[in-house]
Amino acid sequence: MAKINFKPGNMLYPLPAVLVSCCDTGTSPNLLTVAWTGTVCTNPPMVSISVRPERYSYSLIKNSGEFVVNLTTKDLAFAVDYCGVRSGRDVNKWEKCHLTMVPADTVSCPMVAESPVNIECHVTEIKELGSHHMFLAEVTAVHVDDTYLDEKNSFHLNDSGLLAYSHGTYFTLGDALGTFGYSVQKEKKRKKAGGDKNYHKNPRHN
Ligand SMILES: Cc1cc2nc3c(=O)[nH]c(=O)nc-3n(C[C@H](O)[C@H](O)[C@H](O)COP(=O)(O)O)c2cc1C
Repeated sequence: MAKINFKPGNMLYPLPAVLVSCCDTGTSPNLLTVAWTGTVCTNPPMVSISVRPERYSYSLIKNSGEFVVNLTTKDLAFAVDYCGVRSGRDVNKWEKCHLTMVPADTVSCPMVAESPVNIECHVTEIKELGSHHMFLAEVTAVHVDDTYLDEKNSFHLNDSGLLAYSHGTYFTLGDALGTFGYSVQKEKKRKKAGGDKNYHKNPRHN
């Protein structure tokens, strides 16, 4: 086994591919697909999206200082791809993808009703990195689909069929391998927390 030296590039995968909704005064709300996105701070809650300045959405986000990150699922895969290859300059992507607008609380652009989580964001800084400009933004509201809330109000996001993007291909998530901290949990506690039958043991210790 040998390592081949690749030219430096973007090889951090898997990533979420989110639908970002945005608008500006006097324009119809638009959607674009963004994979260069991430959580960047817990407190205050902050996210980033990196967008090429030539995108139609770029000036909408820059001028309004607002956007919504809509998480995506298997059922939204077609829309994720379509909104990433067609421009709001030419088509109404909401209509084409049969997506429903829901008013947001703290921003003027609408949220995607079909998305399990909508994250309202206010831009705090724009970093002109190069091909992409990174919008750093503070999260000002989060909405979750109550379909995934149980009777104790626990949110089961992983039941929504989340979508991942890896090296040019869209995927659903596979089997659960463990929950946060499972590698150091006592076996008894692990079993009590829902059983560990399918959880991934360290193959090097078997
Ligand atoms: C899976 C996927 C991920 C993408 N990620 C980004 C991204 O992170 N940043 C970006 O500027 N464009 C990204 N794009 C491209 C834009 O979504 C695309 O150019 C879109 O048509 C722009 O729409 P607009 O012209 O309506 O703004 C991505 C496209 C796809 C299909």
